[in-house]
Amino acid sequence: MKSLSLLHLGDVHYPETRHGAAVIDDKDPGFSAALKARVSPHRLTAVMATIRRLAENQADLGGVLLSGDLTTNAKVGEYKECIQYLQKCFGGLQPWESDGLHVVPGNHDVNRSKIPLPGSDDEPDPVPHADSLEKFEEFRTAWAEIGRPILAVDAVRVTELNASGCRLPVISLNSCLGCGEYRRLPARFQKAYISLLSETKTGRADHRDLVEQLDTPAFDDTHLADIASTLSGIPSSVPAVVLAHHGLLPQAVPRVAPYSEVINAGIARYRFAGCNKPIIYCHGHIHESAVEILSHPEGGRRPLVTVSAPVLDAGFNLISFYFTDTGLVLGCEVTRYVFQNYGDVTPMEPIRIPLGDRDEPEYASDALSVRIGKVLSRKATRFHALFAAVKSQSADVEETVEEAGLANASPAEDEVVERLREMEWLGVVEITARVQAHKHWILRRRLV
Ligand SMILES: [Fe+2]
Repeated sequence: MKSLSLLHLGDVHYPETRHGAAVIDDKDPGFSAALKARVSPHRLTAVMATIRRLAENQADLGGVLLSGDLTTNAKVGEYKECIQYLQKCFGGLQPWESDGLHVVPGNHDVNRSKIPLPGSDDEPDPVPHADSLEKFEEFRTAWAEIGRPILAVDAVRVTELNASGCRLPVISLNSCLGCGEYRRLPARFQKAYISLLSETKTGRADHRDLVEQLDTPAFDDTHLADIASTLSGIPSSVPAVVLAHHGLLPQAVPRVAPYSEVINAGIARYRFAGCNKPIIYCHGHIHESAVEILSHPEGGRRPLVTVSAPVLDAGFNLISFYFTDTGLVLGCEVTRYVFQNYGDVTPMEPIRIPLGDRDEPEYASDALSVRIGKVLSRKATRFHALFAAVKSQSADVEETVEEAGLANASPAEDEVVERLREMEWLGVVEITARVQAHKHWILRRRLV
């Protein structure tokens, strides 16, 4: 079995997370601030050190996803400082230096002062808002200035990780097209306001007073069509990753805010879930870890999985994809790393999501799988007993193997282990005590 992994980092919110958020129960504002800093774990520092260690030791790591809100106040200076900070922490690491680094804007990265005011109700808008990308320009330039023109703004950005025959396309998608855009107040309020002003000496309403700025997330429909087109060109056994700032569904915690959901998320869900490709949609924005699986009645068995990462100083996600030796996807594991108040950043139990479809012809069983399938039963069996049965020359097994025209070599133990892991991803076998050494496994055939 082969694997490819990605680091998924959520909202950075620099510089707050850099300069605050030490873990301390501070009841004395008069005490030495320097000493407080020395005795307290610092959340972001601990998280970054853990990521660095992981990136240095995780051989299959191919990329890093930054899901937006690198800053909070959309100041270009802070944005550049954030990039420098990330560069200092991760510079030189292969996944950071490669095309596998993806970044998208968040709603806090939008420069609201660059957003043109709309016209009045009686006049057309001075510029079509959909064409106004000025609000992203400084942040796009900030990445370009360090030689990484990767901030996806006016088109989707597609790169492909490729290792030992395993493919993983990664697609950046801008969900902030509507963030910071204006809406005109309802006509009755405009009229009342203009009327009130006309009764004063200063008297004339500026149309800036007749609008409000909202945080409306939205995708460009042509970007969604481009992604659908890209996905249609890859086999269903190849998973794809889509990175955006906003989620496709409302968060679990009730949110009371106008226009807070992506206004065309429904189209994205239908397009992604309906394409019969395993898609992992990674996002931030909600400042929480969450994994949800969506499906479409006509979309086949391949799921659309949404994964959100928390604010970076609270943790991050490691997303690992598993493939057969011939490059067919089997599944993915989402491991959430969480900052603990005593200063460590620890992995939670991975969430395993099968992505393969055993009924598709390309997943057809080989000789060894046939052999294992023949001896598996609903009755629980220890690994050593199953291995012995697989190796045995029972008439049943040989007949099946010979009928299938398959080789009759005695399999090695590690081959059987690998094949059982694949069969587990495909839902054929249930492995109890999977995280222990395979000698402790208890196996049984799953009901299908
Ligand atoms: Fe945020």
